[in-house]
Amino acid sequence: MAVKKLDWEKYKETARQVVTEGVVLLKNDDRALPFLQGTKVSVFGRGQDNYYKSGLGSGGMVNVEHVVSIPEGLAESGVVELNEDLRKVYEKWEEENPVDQGAGWGNEPFSQAEMPVTPELCAQAAAVSDAALIVIGRTGGEDRDIEDAAGSYRLTDIENDMIREVCAAFKRVTVVMNVGAPMDLSFIKMYNPAAVAFVWQGGMIGGSGVADVLTGKVSPSGKLTDTLAESVADYPSAPFFGDRFQNKYAEDIYVGYRYFETFAKDKVLYPFGFGLSYTNFSVEATESKVDTDAFCAHLAVRVTNTGSVAGKEVVQIYAGPGQGKVKNPAVRLLSYEKTRTLAPGESQDLSIEIDIRDLAVYDDAGLTGNPFCYVLEAGVYDIFLGTDSRNVWSVAKVDIAETTVTRKLSQAYAPTLAFDRMVPVTGEDGSVTVGWEATPLGSGEEALHINNFFRGDIAGERIKNISFRDVVSKHRSLDDFVYDLSDYDLSCIVCGEGMGSPRVTPGTASGFGAVSDELAQLKLPAVCCADGPSGIRMDCGTKAFSLPNGITLACSFNDELVEELYAFIGMELLANRIDCLLAPGMNIHRHPLNGRNFEYFSEDPVVTGRMATAVCKGLKKQGVYAVPKHFTGNNQESGRRTQDSVISERALREIYLKGFEMVVKSGYCNVIMTSYGIVNGIRTTESYDLTTRILREEWGFNGVVMTDWWANISSQPDFVLTEGFEYMVGSQNDVFMVIPRASDNELVLSSMEILKRGDERSRTYRANLRRAAANICRFVKKTEAMKRLAQKEDFPTIDAFDKPILLEPSTVEILNRPKDDEAEEFLNLEYIDVEKEFSHELTYKESKKGSNFVFPLNMKLSGTFEFALTASSELSELAQVPMSVFINGTPIGVLTFHGTGGKPERLSFNMISYGRTSLMRVYVGGNGVKLLKMEMNYVSSELKLKL
Ligand code: BGC
Repeated sequence: MAVKKLDWEKYKETARQVVTEGVVLLKNDDRALPFLQGTKVSVFGRGQDNYYKSGLGSGGMVNVEHVVSIPEGLAESGVVELNEDLRKVYEKWEEENPVDQGAGWGNEPFSQAEMPVTPELCAQAAAVSDAALIVIGRTGGEDRDIEDAAGSYRLTDIENDMIREVCAAFKRVTVVMNVGAPMDLSFIKMYNPAAVAFVWQGGMIGGSGVADVLTGKVSPSGKLTDTLAESVADYPSAPFFGDRFQNKYAEDIYVGYRYFETFAKDKVLYPFGFGLSYTNFSVEATESKVDTDAFCAHLAVRVTNTGSVAGKEVVQIYAGPGQGKVKNPAVRLLSYEKTRTLAPGESQDLSIEIDIRDLAVYDDAGLTGNPFCYVLEAGVYDIFLGTDSRNVWSVAKVDIAETTVTRKLSQAYAPTLAFDRMVPVTGEDGSVTVGWEATPLGSGEEALHINNFFRGDIAGERIKNISFRDVVSKHRSLDDFVYDLSDYDLSCIVCGEGMGSPRVTPGTASGFGAVSDELAQLKLPAVCCADGPSGIRMDCGTKAFSLPNGITLACSFNDELVEELYAFIGMELLANRIDCLLAPGMNIHRHPLNGRNFEYFSEDPVVTGRMATAVCKGLKKQGVYAVPKHFTGNNQESGRRTQDSVISERALREIYLKGFEMVVKSGYCNVIMTSYGIVNGIRTTESYDLTTRILREEWGFNGVVMTDWWANISSQPDFVLTEGFEYMVGSQNDVFMVIPRASDNELVLSSMEILKRGDERSRTYRANLRRAAANICRFVKKTEAMKRLAQKEDFPTIDAFDKPILLEPSTVEILNRPKDDEAEEFLNLEYIDVEKEFSHELTYKESKKGSNFVFPLNMKLSGTFEFALTASSELSELAQVPMSVFINGTPIGVLTFHGTGGKPERLSFNMISYGRTSLMRVYVGGNGVKLLKMEMNYVSSELKLKL
């Protein structure tokens, strides 16, 4: 049996390297950084003790033992001496001003109150230190966009005052931003700190990685994956962003640097691709060969470290397409390569291949005479070499003699609503200004996929009781199996069960495949899915490795390193019996205020596509799967379920779909998640153009498409989950995520009603369900879940030479992980059936701060229940010890105990149970209270709490 070894120390080292390689140094006057041996450093800002490991929501809910802060990392380094008196001042203030955790999901403040600093405090600190370090922290995340306001995108007055005072007292001031996405940088001009860096959100070892850069152990090599402009209003999408119902993407393909480098160079503070190092590099093309007939160009690039310390450089290749009939941005990234660590004086020769077809543009208006084709217009194109989108120089010319169609497609998912889109207008003096043209529209018929429903059927022989075991053992075809499924099975198989399905690993987002007892009896496995893009989220409290977030990965521009990191988490997923990670987030940084920018990679689709491919590849190496999301247009959180993103077909194909296209075509992507929203009037959950024509027919995707959690799946925008899966499976969105239980689920029942009708429409629906079932079964057959089931049931499969073999799941041995008893406890949870009453003694372990009591419950009834805790405490009557109660990761209430004079006291609240899988968790918020008992008692069938 294959035993994989997951060395926790190496995992940490790799994540730490990603953090260091993701740090983007914007400014470093007079070599303010790095701090050399013995430097005395005063650290300002409460962010020093409140390091944000990631953003909020599903992309950040990883339970960890400990998060390394920046001062902790600095102290560990042994290089600097921290001003301990100042540290104590902060510690005391933080004790009096504890972190405000906000009111739950989507409501945590974007930042924490900052300690005001006085000129005296700064002067005292400056008298005993060589340098100051200021930590600015921000969070943000799902369900709420960042705000262009103090404390969110902008600094608060207290933060501004702090930077001003510290800069007045110290010569050498470094500001580091522990943020999930770019923020306002006007403080740089106002106070001129010597050094400024984005250190992003680096997961649980973030502080160690940041310290490696600050102390010069590693020279920074991160590059911006977004353009940093002077103000939010400067971004071209600004007037067309944030509406809860409709956003016309009028800036079209001019997103980020494509806009700024074409129209507004002077608005840029730091260009896309920019980032300083502690050393210098020379970058030169030593050879360039262009073969237009073969559509390829080859560049040999020599990078030499001309400075005095070791470092890495990122070489960037851009296309400089001229203005043909189809207008184009001044530059557009084609490729990039990162060097290895080069010692001073050392050179590396990089060999870069470019597919000239990547210079083609999508002609959605037919201007070249080739509508709906990728076209290389006749003309001379520049290939630029450079180190950011501004600092580029031409190293090759591509001379296209005749306009050539490189790919013939057909119109798909085009807008039907009239709007004007941005286009460059070149004046007589050669200046380029913003112009507008009417966006080409689709006929509307394309979008009416109901007419395109799958009309055929899967060829299969109807034989009762074919089990999936027969398919795996090759006695029967997969189509036979699918054909033999009952209407109930078909209605169930297109559902995911969650959150917290008892069929898969506790606390995870869902299971799919065998989501009913009937399907399980057919020996179909239940495949487990868990969030997310910054590590494994297990809401029952299981601890996991918290990873650097999406933007950190991307700023490293190091695909191999990202792949390596994801090969580690791949093993961690295996160890937790999780088959699919709901990551990476691949939406485009269209606007700086998108709440989930921290999860996503970049304003550029090539960076996005390459990073996502690295993630998928790393996971697949271990036999587990990524679920790139949210396909597509999820570029803001406000109204993410209601808003219609109106996007030209060209912008869709060249910007918003491009990264997904790259990852699908890489061959490493087998599962994909659609978004909540609407694009061009049609929900992504039911767009035949999106998930059949583009994804499967054009790109060759052969896997499973799932919806986002509790998505809307009907054309009617206000549809409330009652009409079966007709539209969803009609478009080949295969799995609806998520339902609590199949047997009495309204969607499943309504699906069966449609199938009962026996008319043409119901026959088409059944055929579409079968097609979805086949997509699902084809995938589940490849998973570790399948191997686990085969091993458990002891059924053989047949190898390529028709020899019976046993499918054996991979096992993982975790080495060097600090012992965490709780993790083991969560792994072995068994679900308990609950009818009307449940009570459980809690004295089996100490209720100390930070511990969790977890109860995986199979609730038989839905309705109102009383939830009660009994506890005793010797603390004072005024002491407050909160016990937070969660169901499937969502907080449902807090019971705060005071001193009870040592006697048992019972506190309760009413809660709603929707039946089935409830992973209840009680989190102990402080020491000094002894939990004795937990109880749940049925009150009524009411599904509404009486206030
Ligand atoms: C998010 C997804 C996530 C899912 C499951 C949704 O709210 O948009 O990204 O994977 O929940 O937690």
